[in-house]
Amino acid sequence: MQTLDRNTSLIDALKARRLKLATLVDFPVLLWSGQSSPRNFRANTFPFRASSHFLYFAGLPLENAVIRLEGGRLTLFIDEASPASALWHGETPKRDDIAAAIGATEAYPLSELKPEKNERGEEWLVTPSTWTNGAATIGVQDGKTHANQYIMCQRNVFRDAGRIEGIDLELARAIVSLRMIHDEFALTELRKAAMVSIAAHKAGMAATRCASVEAEIRAAMERVIIANGMTCAYSSIVTVHGEVLHNDQYHHAIGSGDLLLADVGAETASGWASDITRTWAVSGKFSSTQRSLYDVVLAAHDACIAAIRPGVEYRDLHLLAARTIAAGLVDLGILRGQVEDLVDRDVHALFFPHGVGHILGLDVHDMEDLGDLAGYETGRTRSDRFGLNYLRLDRPLQAGMVVTIEPGFYQVPAILQDPERRAKYHDIVDWDRLAQFADVRGIRIEDDVLVTETGAEVLTAALPTEIEAIEQLVQS
Ligand code: GLY
Ligand code: MN
Ligand code: MN
Repeated sequence: MQTLDRNTSLIDALKARRLKLATLVDFPVLLWSGQSSPRNFRANTFPFRASSHFLYFAGLPLENAVIRLEGGRLTLFIDEASPASALWHGETPKRDDIAAAIGATEAYPLSELKPEKNERGEEWLVTPSTWTNGAATIGVQDGKTHANQYIMCQRNVFRDAGRIEGIDLELARAIVSLRMIHDEFALTELRKAAMVSIAAHKAGMAATRCASVEAEIRAAMERVIIANGMTCAYSSIVTVHGEVLHNDQYHHAIGSGDLLLADVGAETASGWASDITRTWAVSGKFSSTQRSLYDVVLAAHDACIAAIRPGVEYRDLHLLAARTIAAGLVDLGILRGQVEDLVDRDVHALFFPHGVGHILGLDVHDMEDLGDLAGYETGRTRSDRFGLNYLRLDRPLQAGMVVTIEPGFYQVPAILQDPERRAKYHDIVDWDRLAQFADVRGIRIEDDVLVTETGAEVLTAALPTEIEAIEQLVQS
């Protein structure tokens, strides 16, 4: 972070979030931003990404900073950059300027948080500082900061969602309830991320016919994100092997008969994410088999979005997608049977093995550092059914939530060649008919959807999903 603009709407939004938190918990809260990790030596680091819980209340991606929240007040702890750092990093903002930019009441160096050492010079099981005593926190991902959390809080701070307890669990639940429902400031950021991601997808489509390997299309897409001062919200998936759900390789040659699946999303400088997938024909023209299966996935996508409104169970959207896909595959002669029965027997999951989506916010799978605490309504747990196990969200929708809708169809060899599954479903899948669709390895269509008071607003709607419009963009 090099420059600071005084942004009163940011400060107002942050203050409103802190005041809301103060109505939910009656103990102080400490949130660490985290630190970058060295790749080989201390100054050559992996890119830094501040903890999302910190970002939610502090607004700026400060490195190695801590905020203390109590009664709506924010106290900032951060060290001034060392004089030597100016040589390598230029002038960086002063502590007091940062404090003013985020509406902090006061600001101190990090040493203020340290406990007293005992007479043997030890700093474990001694008296916590007055700032940290009795405060709740959330464990951060990087190991160095996590170790500091133990020392400064003088107690165990668990990252493993199943072990979070006491006031830390109370805090996690309070933060989940706040981050689940987006305020106007967050929505503005989410819309910005969506707009840049849409432009990235259009650039990827336009670059496809001149590209010979996946990496070239990835580069065209990420160029737009970087040129807009944003970063990728997750590792881009740009592949002709869409059946590898989180494919992170980009070296495959793209053939003129292939489908290309691109799951690419931008993240704004303050951390708000988008998550879009489109699938297009490399040649600019879908084959008839690609077209048929694409339209099955699109029907599931459209049905889910049309059903979104407050009160609807997200799990029911997943099952709606499953039924729509099963019905489409029956119509194409790939499956035999009654749709309800096929879904009850998890047959859809042979081709659609993941959940229909997740919540979106400061993280692409928002708040999954807290396990299923955010995704699952209290008292609900993951099903062990093949067709439901990867459902990441199982709670009723509320206005202000942003969710993804991302049904897909995949021919995953590890699933479809599994002898047990082939035996179990031998009378249901017409394998000869399926073989006629060999030019489809993976299709996914993913949009980001805001739940409104009356229904849904697709934040990524400006990127078409219909085949004809996509063909035009590829041919442009
Ligand atoms: N981009 C990861 C996902 O769609 O969930
Ligand atoms: Mn997603
Ligand atoms: Mn995605």
